Amino acid sequence: MNWSDRLHAAIPGGAHTYSRGDDQYPSNAPPILSHGRGAYVHDADGRRFLDYGMGLRAVTLGYADERVNAAAIDAIARGNNLTRPSLLELEAAERLLALFPWAGMVKFAKNGSTVTTAAVKLARAYTGRTHVAVPAGQPFFTYDDWFIGSTPMDRGIPAEHKALTLKFEYNDIASLERLFAEHPGRIACVMLEPATAVAPCGGGCTDLLAPCRCTDRRANFLHRVKALCAEHGAVFVLDEMITGFRWDLHGAMKVYGIEPDLATFGKGMANGFALAALAGRREIMELGGIRDQGAERVFLISTTHGSEMSAFGAFIRTVDVYRSEDVTGHLWRYGRRLIEGLNALAAEAGVAGHFEAHGFGCSPYYTARDADGRVSMPFRTLWAQEMVRGGVLMPWVALSLAHGDAELDLTLTAARKAFAVYAAALQDGVESHLVGPPVKPVFRKYN
Ligand SMILES: Cc1ncc(COP(=O)(O)O)c(C=O)c1O
Repeated sequence: MNWSDRLHAAIPGGAHTYSRGDDQYPSNAPPILSHGRGAYVHDADGRRFLDYGMGLRAVTLGYADERVNAAAIDAIARGNNLTRPSLLELEAAERLLALFPWAGMVKFAKNGSTVTTAAVKLARAYTGRTHVAVPAGQPFFTYDDWFIGSTPMDRGIPAEHKALTLKFEYNDIASLERLFAEHPGRIACVMLEPATAVAPCGGGCTDLLAPCRCTDRRANFLHRVKALCAEHGAVFVLDEMITGFRWDLHGAMKVYGIEPDLATFGKGMANGFALAALAGRREIMELGGIRDQGAERVFLISTTHGSEMSAFGAFIRTVDVYRSEDVTGHLWRYGRRLIEGLNALAAEAGVAGHFEAHGFGCSPYYTARDADGRVSMPFRTLWAQEMVRGGVLMPWVALSLAHGDAELDLTLTAARKAFAVYAAALQDGVESHLVGPPVKPVFRKYN
């Protein structure tokens, strides 16, 4: 059996995350990896690839960063998971709260899904309401039923769950106003990522790749969402799983000048070690506490491995490195050069109308279009396939401190060749250039 067959024989989906699955990669991508170092991953056959997946965006300094590893190993040597809270646990909590002074308390977990779901539970307990509102275009908040039930992959999820998750449009405040009007007194919280590929402005900003410049704060979309939540008594939750530790050490909330009621973090906190956090206003978080005599209890996050010290050691050291090396500044600068470089090469190859790199410097995106200008999975696959041929694994674009000048050169060299194939495929059809099936969306009803 080959690697893929062995993976699928042992693990449903062949991986522990759908976005790590075969159906997300061109067929020439390495099916299994042996290790990573810096910005590179190595496959089982000893081939090395420059990586832009970076552990699903969790690794922001680079793989096997020695400083972070040393801190984690030091924590492991102290027992790793003790019977009562550890000194490291308290230090990690206080360090996180120092980064986000608006938040009074924090609860750690191992996965982002755990903390976003905990935010929903807390909001429901706090408000006594049932419904949750999230933007329709934002792809993922948790693997739990309250969210997955709202996707096309809703098999196994009772309709009762699905009915409680409502969708509005990002940057369209009227769509959220409508939800509040249609479900009076029922919406417990509004959860959203502060930004994805465009900035939060439903007002006058024309450059949606820059922080909103509206002088009137009320025009900024996030501020309008917050005000709407306050008006209707709903909890305002920012999911900073991707933006946190990437837009800024203090989150996208600092970039956009906004303070939520609750916020969730995960990727990027601990350079790939398993750590996620729910931070929030004391009044809400304290519902999960045990000191308010006689208060009805809320079973907030409670996990055996939530106290794992290696992740706390890694987190504390990661924050130190962010401070000493201006990590987020590096991400923004590298990403802008990457976006400009890719778009210049696309123009040079005559495919500018069909391939576009865009988004924020710290979090670029690329969009592949077919000859008719339609967004195209086959063309996206072709691009990724040709980049793999050039030694670059680019399922999406996650940057790290380890991506430097040499890596940018390598990427643009591979891209120049990839664009030549892209241009040919626009002429004679993409199928003849693809060596395997096109990638497919994760959230589809059927395999
Ligand atoms: C915005 C967002 N929220 C939550 C999650 C869930 O995090 P995890 O995979 O750690 O459970 C993800 C994961 O991709 C995410 O992108």
